Amino acid sequence: MRDARVVSVHGRRVWDSRGRPTVEVEVTLADGRAGRAIAPAGASTGRGEAVDRRDGGPTLGGRDVQGAVASVDAEIGPCLVGREAADQAGIDAALIELDGRPDKSRLGGNAIVATSMAVAHAAAGPGPLWQHLRDDDGPVRLPLPEIQIFGGGAHAGRRVDFQDFMVVPIGAPDYTTALVWVAEVHLAAGRLLADQGLLQGFADEGGYWPAFTDNEQAVEMVVRSIDAAGFTAGVEVAVSLDIAASQFHADGRYHLASEGRALDPDGFSALLLGLLERYPIVMIEDPLVEDDRDGFVAFTEAAGAHVQVVGDDYLVTDAGRVEAAIRDRAGNAVLVKPNQVGTLTEARAALTAAHNGGFGAIVSARSGESEDTTVVHLAVGWGASQLKVGSMTRGERTAKWNEGLRIADRLGNGGPLPDRSEFPWGGP
Ligand code: PGA
Ligand code: ZN
Repeated sequence: MRDARVVSVHGRRVWDSRGRPTVEVEVTLADGRAGRAIAPAGASTGRGEAVDRRDGGPTLGGRDVQGAVASVDAEIGPCLVGREAADQAGIDAALIELDGRPDKSRLGGNAIVATSMAVAHAAAGPGPLWQHLRDDDGPVRLPLPEIQIFGGGAHAGRRVDFQDFMVVPIGAPDYTTALVWVAEVHLAAGRLLADQGLLQGFADEGGYWPAFTDNEQAVEMVVRSIDAAGFTAGVEVAVSLDIAASQFHADGRYHLASEGRALDPDGFSALLLGLLERYPIVMIEDPLVEDDRDGFVAFTEAAGAHVQVVGDDYLVTDAGRVEAAIRDRAGNAVLVKPNQVGTLTEARAALTAAHNGGFGAIVSARSGESEDTTVVHLAVGWGASQLKVGSMTRGERTAKWNEGLRIADRLGNGGPLPDRSEFPWGGP
C-alpha cells in the first residue's frame, strides 16, 4: 500500500505567458511521489471569480505574488500535511475553510487553485491524471476543440470589441484530425491576412492580431479562412465567438469602440442574432453583460436550440449559478475554469451540475497561461465534451493540445470525440 499522505507543500514564483508572475505549487507525499501545478490568470475576469492575491506596489505592475507564495509554505502546508492526497474533496474543503473568505482573496485564489491541482497530480500516482480522475468505466473520449483564430477585446488592446473569433471542427472524425483541420484553417487565415496586408502580429492567446475595421469583418474572415482551407463552413468546421460583453458594457449600453457606436441591450442582441443568422456560428459566449439574467434568457430563446449560448463571466464556474441558469434557461452551456472558482472540487461540481441539467460544458484555460496541462486532464477525466485553450500557436497553448494528442495516441483511433448528436448543432 502506498503512503499517500502529504508531507510537504511548497510554493514558488514562476512566470506566465504574458510575462507576469504566477504561483507554482509542489506537493510531496510520504512515498516520495510529487505533484506540481501552476495557477493561470484571466484578463477579462467575471465579478464573481475567486480573487488572486497580488502584492500591489510599484514592482511588476503591482502583480507580484510573493504574498500568495508565502501563504503556501506558511499556512497551506501546515494545514495539509498529514492528509490523504486522494481525499481531494477533504483537502479542498480545508483550503476553503483556511482561507475563510468567499472570494478566497486572503490566501489567494492563485495559491489555492495551484495547490488543489498539485494535490491531484500527486495523488494520481504513476498513471496519468485523467485516468485517476475518472469515476466510471465508460468509454474515454477526447473533448471537441474550440480554437482561436483571431484574438480581440482585452487580449488585443481592444483593437476590435469582441474577444475571441474561433473555429470548432464539428465534422472531424476524431481529435487528431480535428487539430489537422484547424491547423489548415489557421494557415489559410494567415495567408489571407498576408495577401491583404493585415498580418500585424498576435493577441494574448496566440491568435492573429485583429487588424479589422469592425467586429463583423473578423467573423467574415474566419468563414473565408474555413472556405480557403477547403472545408464546408458550418458542416465540417464552424465558427464560435466569445463576445465577453461585460468588457465593453457601461451605463446600460454596449460600446463598440472599434465601430464608433453604442447600442442599447435590444440593439446589441439584435446585432448578435443577425450574425447568428448570416454566419455558420454554433457557439456564442457571454453575449450580454454578466448580470443580465433576463437578457440571457431572451437571447437563448431567440438564438435557437442549435446554438450553444455559453456562460463564462455570467456563471464563473459556480455550481449554484449553473443550477439557477438551468432553471431559468439562461444559456445552455457553461465554461469551466478551475481558477474562476478556486478548487478542483468546486469546478467539478459546476461541471456535474451542467451534466445533470442538460447544459453543455467546455473546460477552459485562461488568457494568462503556462506549460501546465492540468485542464486537458480535467476535461478528459471528468468527461467534458469540449475544450477551449486559445489558439494553435505559442507553447502554453500547444502544450495543452499536444497533451490531448498524447492521450489520443494512448487510446488509439485518433482519439474518439463525443458523438455529434450530443451537441446542439446535431449530426450531419
Ligand atoms: P480570460 O479570457 O482568461 O482573460 O478571462 C478567457 C475568456 O473570457 O474566455
Ligand atoms: Zn469568455
